[in-house]
Amino acid sequence: MVLSTLRSQFPTLEQSNDGYPLCYLDTAATSQKPQSVIDAMAHYYRFDNANVHRAAHQLSARATSQYEAVRDKLKQFINAERRQEIIFSHGTTESINIVANGLTEQLSKGQLILIDSAAHHANIVPWQQLAKRTGAQVKPIPLTADQRLDLNAYKVLLQQQPAIVALSHVSNALGTLNPVHELVSLAKQAGAITLVDGAQAIAHMNVDVQAIDCDFYVFSGHKMYGPTGVGVLYGRYDVLDKLTPLMTGGEMIKSVSFEQTEFNILPNRLEAGTPPIAEVIGLGAAIDFIESLPRDQVHAEEQALLNYLQDELRKLGDIVLYAAHSDNIAAVAFNLADEHHQDVGILLDQQGIAVRCGHHCAMPLMQTLGLKGCCRASIGVYTNKADIDNFINAMKSVKELLL
Ligand SMILES: Cc1ncc(COP(=O)(O)O)c(C=O)c1O
Repeated sequence: MVLSTLRSQFPTLEQSNDGYPLCYLDTAATSQKPQSVIDAMAHYYRFDNANVHRAAHQLSARATSQYEAVRDKLKQFINAERRQEIIFSHGTTESINIVANGLTEQLSKGQLILIDSAAHHANIVPWQQLAKRTGAQVKPIPLTADQRLDLNAYKVLLQQQPAIVALSHVSNALGTLNPVHELVSLAKQAGAITLVDGAQAIAHMNVDVQAIDCDFYVFSGHKMYGPTGVGVLYGRYDVLDKLTPLMTGGEMIKSVSFEQTEFNILPNRLEAGTPPIAEVIGLGAAIDFIESLPRDQVHAEEQALLNYLQDELRKLGDIVLYAAHSDNIAAVAFNLADEHHQDVGILLDQQGIAVRCGHHCAMPLMQTLGLKGCCRASIGVYTNKADIDNFINAMKSVKELLL
């Protein structure tokens, strides 16, 4: 078992809460960080702290080469064709906003934007705002009764030739996996620009953007064992190059006069201002960490652990599971009978168990499910069987208390 050997690299997990060992089942919200990521960021601040791209001095040269090396790492990590296709942002949310804002001038009244109805708000609201600015229309792709994207309904919607199709790779609320290769291929046949939100996929599976064939793929560093405050926008060069910059200012320019400004070429054109340098370097260390693992084996073990978690919850009784398919990725959504998810979360926390409760930034999905919210337990490379057993034992006592 690979997973059981990785835990010691994550110092946060060594603590206990009120005498209970910390059982962190909230990786989908943010992952814990390995020591190597913490060290890489501390090393930058201790030895190399300088702004990038700007100065003649050695510190800046070192900071710049470390920062740019992460762009190369990411190019290889997601198999982008060119390093200029990798844009650093502050997270998935910003990446989607860069795209949605950047397409404003290309969209016109009456055009259609299709969105995943299980999407995170970050992949809904920027499209609504784009529609408001342009007079375009946003339509959700419906779900089937078992909460997968409805392929037939999708194909019917595609007949309306949407301008944009925005999908999640993996639903953050449910953990359901979308067949993005097929969905993107169909969207492209209909002539749409495609964006895939990979925030919940990137840590758990190999992502090849050329194989998916999407125009944009976005994710956050903090959900893949890296720091908060950094994200990635991958864009196919010719589509990325047509985006109007969301942010303007330093770094993204070639020349400025009081009369006019000439923008820089990619990737700088979409990276205005001082970037999150330490965070990018930390993200580089997170990629090194992920790539040091036997990834196929890790994914298989994560899958087995998730299926064990689903099965144990089923055995517990009085548990309502939502869309708990065996091919889900790293998360399970549930409620305890009719009990309020927040009560369950608080009682679990009193026993050292960290799960997420609420609408999971997916209010439209909650409405579809007829729910105010639910609990979500999610796993990462440091999760082990003992975590699941602790969680299930804690759930037994919560059940005894509440039912
Ligand atoms: C699927 C998905 N998209 C977007 C986001 C937003 O990510 P961030 O808050 O890092 O910008 C999240 C975060 O939970 C997510 O899970």
